[in-house]
Amino acid sequence: MSPFPFTRPDPQPAPQAETLAAAEAFIRQFAHENPRSGDPDSRIRAIRTAVESSGTYEHTPEELAFGARVAWRNSARCIGRLYWNNLLVRDLRHLEHPDDIAAQCFEHLRLATNGGRIRPVISVFAPDRPGRPATRLLGEQLVRYADDPRSAEQVSLARGLGWKGGSEPFEVLPLVVHASPDTAPEFYELPEDTVLEVPLRHPHHPGFAGLGLRWYAVPAVSDMTLEIGGISYPSAPFNGWYMGTEIGSRNLADLDRYDLLPTIARLFDLDTTSERSLWRDRSLVELNLAVLHSYQEDGVTIADHHTESARFLTHIEREGRNGRSVPADWSWIVPPLSGSATAVFHRYYDPPDLLLRPAFLRRDTAWSTARSGVKGEPPSCQRSAS
Ligand code: ARG
Repeated sequence: MSPFPFTRPDPQPAPQAETLAAAEAFIRQFAHENPRSGDPDSRIRAIRTAVESSGTYEHTPEELAFGARVAWRNSARCIGRLYWNNLLVRDLRHLEHPDDIAAQCFEHLRLATNGGRIRPVISVFAPDRPGRPATRLLGEQLVRYADDPRSAEQVSLARGLGWKGGSEPFEVLPLVVHASPDTAPEFYELPEDTVLEVPLRHPHHPGFAGLGLRWYAVPAVSDMTLEIGGISYPSAPFNGWYMGTEIGSRNLADLDRYDLLPTIARLFDLDTTSERSLWRDRSLVELNLAVLHSYQEDGVTIADHHTESARFLTHIEREGRNGRSVPADWSWIVPPLSGSATAVFHRYYDPPDLLLRPAFLRRDTAWSTARSGVKGEPPSCQRSAS
């Protein structure tokens, strides 16, 4: 029996007509937004020839960079899209071997960390080809902790592959790379110089540091497929910088994550016998304060939710001036702390269009989405911490 639950039949190639239609729409959009890029009709003809003979085609580096940036611009759940056009795009499409991919994921983290001045970066590895799905990264982010309940599956996967770690608090999981459905995934320990971390302390409570809490600097999402013009890039990890509430209100506070509100309440001597003492709310504020304070003091880029909310409204205005609407998911945009004290709470947004492309699409399992398997976000009533 194969120990790896990822062996599925090879995905069917998307029908050529689908690839061609998606390619043409993308090339027209690219030409429209990049008026000096040349004649879209001749580029579309060349793509048609390539698709008819090989079932696929190759993006130019310019098309790839534009596609990745627009995929960010189209991400309805992201409040941080004001800087979409500054995404640093690393064109690593020639890499398929797990060793090379792991090495470049580590280089990604170094570039993104940038000594604490976090830079938004995406590394794009080889795309899926007809009948030949590309190498995948297993795991939802490049950096994750083994004792985070959200990592349970990843921990057993790594252990099954021979990883021995995971007994200490906040231990970083290895990167797991899977080259094909017929081979075993491989794991790679993250070199120490790739993971900048921030020990958490509180600006007014000296006892807080004694809790031994920490978080990492770079949230690098690695379980989404970048889809551009009918081509799927399943290994395309990307990062921005953190907004404090992601760590302080969700990762460290959610009941099914680190569940630390009771611990914080005890530290601050809050009355937990009555909900009406608002001990949960007050603990959330102290935890969020500690996160922002610690990152700031260590010179690691982090945004607060008030500033990021104002920036998002600036983004909507700027996009409007360029004749574009901004699809947004209210339940993801409104921060999980003091929502109504931020301006993003007090309005509605254009509904996310599942067909909007280029896009980052969620991959639920390693191989299920190769080629045309992903049609957009599955409907879900529960938000998760991404
Ligand atoms: N919410 C996820 C986390 O807490 C990170 C998702 C991406 N966040 C970002 N600021 N770019 O790890």
